[in-house]
Amino acid sequence: MPATPVPDKVQPLGARKGAALKGIALVPGDKSISQRALILGGMARGETRISGLLESEDVLNTAGAVRTLGAVVTCDGEGHWRVTGTGVGNWRQPDKILDFGNSGTGSRLMMGAIATTPITATFTGDASLRSRPMARVLDPLTRFGTRYQAQGAKALMPLTVIGAGDAKAISYDVAVASAQVKSAMLLAALNAQGTSCITQKILTRDHTEKMLSAFGAGISVEPLGDGGEKILVAGRKPLLACAIEVPRDPSSAAFPLVAALIVPGSEISIPAILLNPRRIGLIETLLEMGADIRIQNRRSSGGEEIGDLVVRHSALKGVTVPAERAPSMIDEYPILAVAAAFADGVTVMQGLEELRVKESDRLSAIARGLEANGVAVSETPDGLTVTGACRVMGGGMVSTHMDHRIAMAFLTLGMAARDPVMVDDIAMIATSFPSYQGLMRGLGADFVVPDP
Ligand code: S3P
Repeated sequence: MPATPVPDKVQPLGARKGAALKGIALVPGDKSISQRALILGGMARGETRISGLLESEDVLNTAGAVRTLGAVVTCDGEGHWRVTGTGVGNWRQPDKILDFGNSGTGSRLMMGAIATTPITATFTGDASLRSRPMARVLDPLTRFGTRYQAQGAKALMPLTVIGAGDAKAISYDVAVASAQVKSAMLLAALNAQGTSCITQKILTRDHTEKMLSAFGAGISVEPLGDGGEKILVAGRKPLLACAIEVPRDPSSAAFPLVAALIVPGSEISIPAILLNPRRIGLIETLLEMGADIRIQNRRSSGGEEIGDLVVRHSALKGVTVPAERAPSMIDEYPILAVAAAFADGVTVMQGLEELRVKESDRLSAIARGLEANGVAVSETPDGLTVTGACRVMGGGMVSTHMDHRIAMAFLTLGMAARDPVMVDDIAMIATSFPSYQGLMRGLGADFVVPDP
């Protein structure tokens, strides 16, 4: 793994085994949907009202960029957000660098959103984001006539995007299983002359497509014979402001969910969670492992399926997770690996090459973290095998590599391991789940704050 970027101020924290977890876990709004609501609101005509927005560092950085690009973004302090957009193709020339902090989604989607507007914008981020490849988004965007200047073949930040003034519609087959790349192309197509055709063989989260429909975009999605999809986007058509209700984030819910499964005697409920079929791979996998998870009151909210989860401590067994399921649980492998550590038998996870380019190299970070806590694990270029045991030693110090999900996953491990588990830095948890510690303490989790 490359050298870990050093953040400004590190905040270590530990978690130890305590009483059973009980209560209601009200997790915050979905990060993917929050990011899209701000960006599409910024591109629409009129005032978009957003409720349930995730007020985390990643999303607030996107809100800042949307403002710098000319939209008016306000919050009344009680969670009601309003965005008055500039209209498609009307982003303002920014007068400062767009700093996305830790956010791959915010930055990559915004590269697409400005790619066909004749402005020049410089993007940067923290040490983790500056080490992530942007060529996967920028190279396809050049088909619209967009130009860019960036660092090296991977097109690292800081980088500058020079939007195309007279973009024409394109046809493009998205080569990587990435919703960020697909979304960037769809957003760029909004201001290209004609109808763009974006195809993808592997289905990834479809929040951009759904939200574009809600904003009145000329978008249609057709299934392809090979299991993929063809998305047609009519360019130069206005987006019309609308009301967005952001459902609660299943990727954040994953942490209290797995904690309740592995801490003996636990029973918690997690209400109103997004259950979009392209986001529930973790729940499917845990059910196969024997988890006692009940899904109640399935309903629709803001065009997305949601439901309430009731989760009880369970005896888990190891499973083989099919590689095809990876896109629907791509952010959940760190916490699945923790569940697997407590399962009886072997859990095999395959098709995970994308995990190497997340906020950290997650395959390596998971494997090293499990090893440090006495869990048998083997790592391949694109997979992990974890041999579980009902008793996990713990006692390790885990390097989080500026990755929020590695931090929360290993704190969860500590909640059920014999000895406390420490993580070297929890600062990044604020990028996606600022209320994490308070919420988990409210359920009964026992955190250990090290002496300064
Ligand atoms: C996201 C897509 C996924 C995911 C990320 C959020 C999105 O990334 O890991 O946390 O909101 O589109 P990739 O598209 O790179 O797989």
